[in-house]
Amino acid sequence: MSLLKREAENILLNNRREGYTLPTNNKLYPAQWNWDSAYIALGYSYFNKEFAIVELEKLFEGQWSDGMVPHILFHQKDENYFPNHNTWQCGDKIPSSGITQPPIAASILKLMLDKTEFSSSEMERILNLIKKTKKYLEWFCKYRDPNDTGLVSILHPWESGTDNSPLWDFPLSKILIEENLAYKRRDLDVSSSDVRPLKRDYDCYITLLNQFRNQKYNPEQLYDISMFNVVDIGFNSLFLKACKDLVYIATKNNIDCTSIQKKITRTENKLISLYNQNDNSFYSYDVLNKQTLEIPSITNYFILFADIQNKEINNSIIQSLKKYNSNEKYFFSSIKPDSKYFEEIRYWRGPVWINCNWILYKGLLEKDPDFANKIKSHTLDLIHEKDFHEYYSCKSGTPYGANNFSWSAALYLDLINN
Ligand code: GLC
Repeated sequence: MSLLKREAENILLNNRREGYTLPTNNKLYPAQWNWDSAYIALGYSYFNKEFAIVELEKLFEGQWSDGMVPHILFHQKDENYFPNHNTWQCGDKIPSSGITQPPIAASILKLMLDKTEFSSSEMERILNLIKKTKKYLEWFCKYRDPNDTGLVSILHPWESGTDNSPLWDFPLSKILIEENLAYKRRDLDVSSSDVRPLKRDYDCYITLLNQFRNQKYNPEQLYDISMFNVVDIGFNSLFLKACKDLVYIATKNNIDCTSIQKKITRTENKLISLYNQNDNSFYSYDVLNKQTLEIPSITNYFILFADIQNKEINNSIIQSLKKYNSNEKYFFSSIKPDSKYFEEIRYWRGPVWINCNWILYKGLLEKDPDFANKIKSHTLDLIHEKDFHEYYSCKSGTPYGANNFSWSAALYLDLINN
């Protein structure tokens, strides 16, 4: 185990550039990604507190003046990536994408503060990060839930973090692809097309991007004009947990969070109202096309991470999760294996992802410690057997995507320490 620990640390260090860390050392992802960086900071916190803080500081350096933290920061203008800074054409201090990702930085800050002693000068920097995180979450309240329903929308599949999940098939099928759309994908130069999103998916991704760029990424307009507007259960669960964790750490440090506190009650009640008693599930909702998205995705179970105060629902969700991968050797597959949407090796349409296992492990620790520990030991065994990859087949454990994958290494460091 200690060899693997060293390997995990080295992956992070080798993927590190000036103050930030790439998701992997190959050419697939040559920039700083939002939720990757948050996981990565947690990994660093076990062996280099300074790098942990700097990782988050670098991420928030890219925060827009309205509060949004982009999903990608292009610290170096690498033209081999697509879509790069030339396509997005935005960013405040740092060239960036014009959309966001799950705001897990708040939860990562709480985890770091719970277990680590920080000096007063480090605490001062962390307080700054807490204030920026608050502004980020307020941005979601204002622009992604303008009618204060309690639930925030994502306006692009990339915002979910689960890019080509079948969750988005229906909403994307309604998009009118831009005429004469011309672009060149770069992901297929470094990855096999069998594991990557399809052309039709990319056409939609770029059509949306172009639409947002034409509106100059004005957050007040995007909510109404986007051809994609979805309330994703996974995203809202991570958002709710982020709000709870922010209020906890902010209040401890005398930072007022009244508006976020109010949002928590609203979001929690609204999420609970989406619980489907017939099949013990939560389903995402296509706001634009007024359609429930009945897709058996592992992200529907992120509700456990959100710590909703409803024992009965939590218990029935746990029972359902226990059956989710009952016939497969490796879990959790991103899509339920017996579903017609499942594809064994295609990115977010079936493979096992370490961050999903980690989110569920954290969500279950207090609700069902035995199950949580089973998930943990299973995840550690998978890494032990197959190393630190981006994703794995749930049938054979075969690794796919990038190797030396930073968040797999970072979350491994958290798992072995907790
Ligand atoms: C892909 C993933 C996303 C991740 C990024 C960098 O786009 O879907 O979740 O943040 O790669 O690793």
